[in-house]
This record gives sequence, C-alpha cells and structure tokens, in this order.
Amino acid sequence: MAERIAIIGGSGVAELDLAGRLTPMLVTTPFGTVPVQLGEYAGREIIFLLRHGKDYCLPSEINYRANISALKRAGVGQIIATAAVGAINRAFKPGDLATLDDFIDFTRGGRDTFIKRQFLDVSRPYDQALNRQILRAAKALKLKLHANAIYACAEGPRFETRAEIRMYGQAGADVVGMTQVPEVVLATEAGIPYAVIAVITNYAAGVTGKPVDGDHVVAVMKKKKKALTALLKDVVAAL
Ligand code: HPA
Repeated sequence: MAERIAIIGGSGVAELDLAGRLTPMLVTTPFGTVPVQLGEYAGREIIFLLRHGKDYCLPSEINYRANISALKRAGVGQIIATAAVGAINRAFKPGDLATLDDFIDFTRGGRDTFIKRQFLDVSRPYDQALNRQILRAAKALKLKLHANAIYACAEGPRFETRAEIRMYGQAGADVVGMTQVPEVVLATEAGIPYAVIAVITNYAAGVTGKPVDGDHVVAVMKKKKKALTALLKDVVAAL
C-alpha cells in the first residue's frame, strides 16, 4: 500500500470534508498521545491532524514533536499543511493562497527538535514536487495562488508590531505566521516531504492602517474552507 498522506489543519480548518467518513485514532509517541483522524480519498489513506488540537492551543503551546512523530509512526510519506498567514508583501491580498519556498526564523530559538543536529540541511525546506502539484491544482481550479513565498516565523502568540513587520519585509519575507518553525524543520528531520498551502487572512501589522484581528483570521480561514478542500482533493488525487 502507498504511504499515507497527512493533512495538517491550521487555525479555522477543523473539519475539511475531504475524505468522507473519518475514523478517530490515537497515536502514541514518546512526546505524548496525538489524536488524528483516518480517512480515504482517491484510493489513498489520509491522516488529518489538527495542529492546534481539538481545544485550540496557542502557537507557543503546540506539541510539534508529538504531532510530527505521530505522523511518522503512522506511516505518513507526505505532509500537506494549511496555515493562516498575514501579508507583508502588498501583492498578497487577504483571501489569496500561497505556497512557501523558504522561511526566516524570527522565533527566539530553543524550539523543538528531534535530533539537535547542528548541521541539518534546510536549504530546501519545502518539497518542490508537492509545491508544483499545489500550483497546478490551484491553476486548474482558478484559485489565486502565489508560488514560492518567503515566510517569516514570528514567536507569537501576540501579533507583531509595525516595526517588526517592516523589518521582516526588509529581510525579504512576503508573509508572516507563527508555526512553520519548528513544524517544517521537524518534518525535515523526520525525512517527510512537506509543503504548505498558506491562506492570507489579513495584512500584517502596519501594512495598512488596520489592527490585526484574531477572530477575523479564523473567519477568513473558515471562508476559504471550500476552496481549500477542492484544492487538497485535486492535489491528493494527483499524488
Ligand atoms: N501575524 C502572525 N501570524 C498570523 C498573522 C499575522 O498577521 N495572520 C495569520 N497568522
């Protein structure tokens, strides 16, 4: 049987109706027990994992090691994640989608690792074949998707200051979020190809005059649920 495909649901994407009936499953890892849901689509076994858990924990409280370890133990061969991001680059508009090419780590360090390997190669953190499939599917579905964005990972859980966002933009970031580090790094350590469909939910602090509103972030994610589901279906069917 082909390896399983994991879908990591970010904020606001609790119930993606991709795989019909889902079977809950608990995966035990050295880092804790992780609830996932098992389903099937296009002849492939799909594992859904809610990044923030059922009861929504903050980005700074996510048990990333347990999450990625659970996917590894469950026989996952590819991960497609979803994530809410704020736009730093004005060409990215709320409601647009993006794939990521790279990240810049603005967390304070000390985040999770499995192997504490100093020399881990992260020169290509995102899987290019998966990114190409996401781009192709988005084109077919006529969804606005920016390919190969650069992601600034902020520490959170607060949103950023205007000056922080200005600096991230000067450093080359297009979008900002709080979860890619360590998630994509752990996937790299675990040897699981990883890509993310980022949903632009808002302009980051100071990009327009508007404050950043967490409820609005979740509301936009919910509004994009249909498009995300269609996109994920198309990508999974092509894998
Ligand atoms: N900043 C950080 N994380 C986010 C944002 C933001 O503006 N929007 C969605 N996730």
